[in-house]
Amino acid sequence: MIDFNNINRDNLIELLTTEDEKLIEQMFHEAYRIKLENVGNVVYFRGIIEFSNICTKNCFYCGIRKSNGKVERYMMSEEEILDMAKWCHDANYGSLVLQSGERSDEQFVEFVERILRKIKSQWNLGITLSLGEQTEETFKRWFDAGAHRYLLRIETSNQELYRTLHPADHKHDIRLESLDNLRKLGYQVGTGVMIGLPGQTAEDLADDIRFFKKRDIDMIGMGPYVVHHDTPLAEKMPNFDKERQLDLALRMIALTRIVLKDVNIASTTALQALDPKGREYGLRAGANIIMPVITDTKYRKQYLLYEDKPCVDENASMCRSCLEGRIQSVGESIRYGEWGDSPHFRRRQNG
Ligand code: 5AD
Ligand code: SF4
Repeated sequence: MIDFNNINRDNLIELLTTEDEKLIEQMFHEAYRIKLENVGNVVYFRGIIEFSNICTKNCFYCGIRKSNGKVERYMMSEEEILDMAKWCHDANYGSLVLQSGERSDEQFVEFVERILRKIKSQWNLGITLSLGEQTEETFKRWFDAGAHRYLLRIETSNQELYRTLHPADHKHDIRLESLDNLRKLGYQVGTGVMIGLPGQTAEDLADDIRFFKKRDIDMIGMGPYVVHHDTPLAEKMPNFDKERQLDLALRMIALTRIVLKDVNIASTTALQALDPKGREYGLRAGANIIMPVITDTKYRKQYLLYEDKPCVDENASMCRSCLEGRIQSVGESIRYGEWGDSPHFRRRQNG
């Protein structure tokens, strides 16, 4: 018998791999119960603006890696980004995420800083950044300019596995140090991993969840690894099994909810790349955040980190009404107009 209130590493491994239908059902049931108890059946939106696909890095799995010459690169203007932020505010989304490839040149840092100040001076929006590893000074400048959440995935907690997924100069230690700096500066800290990577074991995934717990993380954004054929990693997974990836990703969401309880967990778009109902399944498994893409349609096809990314021909309004229906279909409701901060963050602030 597994005590769901006190799950150990062996239990996590068993729950990630079991084929016992009863046990699987019990795990998802427990995860949903804990979700209701801690965050309710309420979904918060974060409109995501993917404002540039220019990246200085070369992660082996990612479609917009620097060496992929097939991608047409773009950088939105300040005006375009502000228009989308206004759309987000008018649609009553409460929060937005600014995401792009990783750059750390002064021109970029200053650009983001300026955008943040302009957004904050006009609208009451919660702002999350997802802009990769940066120096402590840069994190501080952006925090002072109005960002208060930061998403930086560790991709995997296994250092060895991390090395097989990145060039030698992409260092896991720097990622960990960045997470420490973000926390120190007062950000709500989000991290996550890719699930179902070539060479990743159930032990690794169990350790990922334990990593989130140990680091006292506030927000989780994790999703299935999805092959992109113009990347080196695609060769390592010639038989990509969508069903298996989806199953594993949903188990990870459920187990993270069971272990971490009061954090915000995103039901990521990558889930929907595997199944049209992927994001709804994510909510049922324990997630409570959805990040609707509000990037202008003309850029969406150039921001493909993985294949089969959904909604590339849609626009922000279409995504909004589509998501409303999807969320209602699983008995949940959207809380508009509020930031929806991580309850865990608030608790740790109140000490
Ligand atoms: N499949 C799934 N997720 C991916 N990411 C990048 N490439 C892929 C892929 N092929 C994720 C990484 C990164 C985030 C921005 O996108 O986890 O941190
Ligand atoms: Fe760049 Fe991020 Fe893609 Fe790595 S995962 S290549 S840092 S956009």
